[in-house]
Amino acid sequence: MDHFHFRDGVLHAEDIPLTRIAEEVGTPVYVYSRQTLERHAQVFRDGLKDIPNKHIAFAIKCNPNLGVLRVLARQGYGADVVSGGEMERALAAGIAAEDIVFSGVGKKRSELRQGLERGIGQFNIEHEPEGIALAEIAHSMGLRAPAVLRVNPDVDAGTHAKISTGKAENKFGVGIDVAPEIFGRLAKLDGMNLRGVALHIGSQLTSLAPLEAAFERVAILIADLRAAGHDITHVDLGGGLGVPYHPDDNPPSPAEYGAMVARVTKDWNVTLMFEPGRVIAGNTGVLLTEVLWVKPGAKNPFVIVDAAMNDLARPALYDAFHDFVAVKPTGEKFDAWIVGPVCETGDTFAKDRHIDKVESGDLAVFRTAGAYGATMASTYNSRDLVPEILVDGDKYVSVADRISAGTIMAAERVPDWID
Ligand code: LLP
Repeated sequence: MDHFHFRDGVLHAEDIPLTRIAEEVGTPVYVYSRQTLERHAQVFRDGLKDIPNKHIAFAIKCNPNLGVLRVLARQGYGADVVSGGEMERALAAGIAAEDIVFSGVGKKRSELRQGLERGIGQFNIEHEPEGIALAEIAHSMGLRAPAVLRVNPDVDAGTHAKISTGKAENKFGVGIDVAPEIFGRLAKLDGMNLRGVALHIGSQLTSLAPLEAAFERVAILIADLRAAGHDITHVDLGGGLGVPYHPDDNPPSPAEYGAMVARVTKDWNVTLMFEPGRVIAGNTGVLLTEVLWVKPGAKNPFVIVDAAMNDLARPALYDAFHDFVAVKPTGEKFDAWIVGPVCETGDTFAKDRHIDKVESGDLAVFRTAGAYGATMASTYNSRDLVPEILVDGDKYVSVADRISAGTIMAAERVPDWID
């Protein structure tokens, strides 16, 4: 459920008509709903009600906006970060260092040190050399790094190949078959407090079966590690729960996910850690855009909007579906392509889609754009960096200002040795 709804024929975010934001801020612009964000945070936590010891770390890669993070920090969420930059954002948003988990397939030594200096709660080690480096740095600082070893359970998450992470051929974690030996060697190091394992098999999962299969494999690994004398107190189950992009999508609910997790892990006797991203933020945001032109096409017309692949990259990258809805629909529909102004055929949001009939000057939104939207934006084609608005009831604020192409150009220079 979300708080984007029609009132008097106009799409609103909570109590704010999107026409007002378009007028006052301009388009394209991301619009987030605080009430939706809070609701999703609560629904996810409620889904885990049967899990006695847990830690929820929002995967901030999907929406690292400081305003969004502050809302989630107030909900008691920690942060899953994948870079030094994300770590600083989480801290700046008021998330306690001990509630921060540092994932990421290629951490720099300087970032490992930064995490230790900041006193973050957990490092998710991706492979043995990284663990050795972490232990060395921690030891040199007189510390023991709290860590878990990420394993690759070799299951097919059944999602898009570009966002699947738990197959043996993917770059993430260590093979579950070799995990016990690596765990044994890393656990012995001074400077290391290796306390468990982590996994994350992919994103936008629309079935619980691959997750359950992966968790079953981890259960066997935990038993093996304990049999070898290791103290296993923490298991990080990652994120990945899918969201409905299409009105007919029906992914598993947080309650169904939580019930499965509670059943599979009931004898594990550990603190379970979660790294949800999309399921918290996806449906809390829309990308508001203006229709520039409607141009005849070979079969169906092209609706050329002022948002482009640089603002919302998912359709171009993953052929992802984002529902397109007019802000003031007339009730009429037509079949059309929806494209942006960028000079690539890949800058296509939809092909031959049955959509609200729109004309030049009309406003529309791409829905479910709160996760992996603004954060993946670029300034390709020297376009402005898209701004972000957070709505709360009848007020709204810019939580990220538009950065103009001029500001970006001002950071560049022509070498004085070129005349
Ligand atoms: N934990 C780890 C270690 C991850 O790599 C990810 C996502 C998450 C948690 C959060 O997963 P979520 O709950 O959001 O599914 N840009 C792509 C998605 C990339 C996901 C990367 N990792 C997209 O737009 O679909």
